[in-house]
Amino acid sequence: MSDAAAKIEKLRNEIRHHEHLYYVLDQPAVSDAEFDALMNELKRLEAAHPELVTSDSPTQRVGGKPAEGFRKVQHSRPMLSLDNAYSQEELADWDRRVHELAGKLPVEYTSELKLDGLSVAIHYQASPEGDTQLSAGLTRGDGQVGEDVTSNIRTIRSVPLSIPAKKLKKLGLPPTIEVRGECVLPEAAFERLNEEREREGLPPAVNPRNAAAGTLRTLEPSIVANRQLVFYAYFLLVNGEYWPQGQTATLDALTALGFRVNPHRGSMKSVEGMMQFIAKAEEDRATLGYEIDGVVFKVDAQPTQQRLGYTGRAPRWAIAYKFTAQSAVTKLEDIMITVGRSGKLTPTAMLTPVFVGGVTVSRATLHNADFIERKGLLIGDWVKVERGGDVIPKVVEVIHDKDHPRGTHKFEYPKTCPECGNTVVREEGEADWRCVNADCPAKLRESLLHFGSRGVMNIEGLGDAAVAQLLDRGLVKSVADLYALTKQQLIALERFADKSAQTLLDEIERSKKAGLARVLMGLGIRFVG
Ligand code: IVH
Repeated sequence: MSDAAAKIEKLRNEIRHHEHLYYVLDQPAVSDAEFDALMNELKRLEAAHPELVTSDSPTQRVGGKPAEGFRKVQHSRPMLSLDNAYSQEELADWDRRVHELAGKLPVEYTSELKLDGLSVAIHYQASPEGDTQLSAGLTRGDGQVGEDVTSNIRTIRSVPLSIPAKKLKKLGLPPTIEVRGECVLPEAAFERLNEEREREGLPPAVNPRNAAAGTLRTLEPSIVANRQLVFYAYFLLVNGEYWPQGQTATLDALTALGFRVNPHRGSMKSVEGMMQFIAKAEEDRATLGYEIDGVVFKVDAQPTQQRLGYTGRAPRWAIAYKFTAQSAVTKLEDIMITVGRSGKLTPTAMLTPVFVGGVTVSRATLHNADFIERKGLLIGDWVKVERGGDVIPKVVEVIHDKDHPRGTHKFEYPKTCPECGNTVVREEGEADWRCVNADCPAKLRESLLHFGSRGVMNIEGLGDAAVAQLLDRGLVKSVADLYALTKQQLIALERFADKSAQTLLDEIERSKKAGLARVLMGLGIRFVG
């Protein structure tokens, strides 16, 4: 092997090791900067020796061209669904049936979280170099036939691009295997995505699962790479058959092969054990950082699984215990109207604080004026708030028998803008009211904040406090005025010293290089994304 080849191989292994620590084990050992330095060094060497680039190099996660569509591919064995249970009684019924059908075979269960994402199948094949490389990534599709989203799956950093031959050998596995599991979009990544969508004037994604589904079907892998999907492995197949060692051994083997396996798992023999696992999962739910909608119990031993077999749509050897929607009833104390940068009036419910889905909620979205009218919502009403698939709590229902409770009163939707007092209008067929005043201070304030925000013009220091002062002193009447600010003007403001004034001016100056796309986004023109 040449010097360069040896150096490249060493760097790749080092990077793979750090990717594994970071994306699979959640235990980074080096800083982002150190990691980037290794990656840059590898990129440099590969650029100098293009003949040494291999498809499983860490530099090759994001491939070349965007896809034109997705090929349909038959699954090696159907990707089935799960039967559901909603109560201890239903679990006990299932446990009884399992025992009846299992006869003398051992019955022990494994428990896993039911991750609210989408299932994918990832195929690995022996490569000419003798190791095992990712060869295909498929969505579930209709369970029989999935879509080939390989170039997108490759961008998921918790998915190994190759598996060393000796690891497979040690487990008695052949070089060609299939790994199935769940792709999820963590809550933080989901929120970031929606902030981005809002800035671009797009409607928000409803929940992380939909967002993950949309992401996996994106034709541009570099977009997928930025979304930060995570893959949790839970099945291992050889020649279209589940690995015969059983579920506990499967999860251990997947871990040993370098996959991310969800750490919240257990094993038990009885319904009591299942209920304990459920209680713990419900407790952990709010702080996991990704969404789950229940718990999955599987019969561990494969001979028992085989004896139990399948119904048309699901294995008899597994069941999903589904959590009921996370909602609570509380009182609507008031409605607050805020004005957005497009002049849109948004009603927010001010609630008697209530514990929902692991957090205390005192505000929830009321969508728009139309929602309030349609539901006949009054201040003082009891309302049902949900913090379900999505992160922002919302009022979903008004609770009253025939009459509203005593002491309720109608909320007068403002006829004028609560910020500038000007007329508000609602266009034909629109659910929202808008302030028509082009000079509404709220619009200007929100526009400036949007313009400077991260991911748009990125002007550090142009936050709430700075914007409030600039507007208060009349120094800025439009986005363009930012570029005429002087140091004297800034220093004259409260909270600005020589240094902070200079920093803001430098940031504004720097933003001139942001490029046309960002300027367009920054101007936030309706219907222009
Ligand atoms: S086992 C026959 N395990 O739930 C195999 N599924 O409602 C069924 N899911 O389509 C899959 N977490 O997308 C299994 N730990 C887990 C899971 C899980 C989430 C999803 C999966 C499946 C759906 C069935």
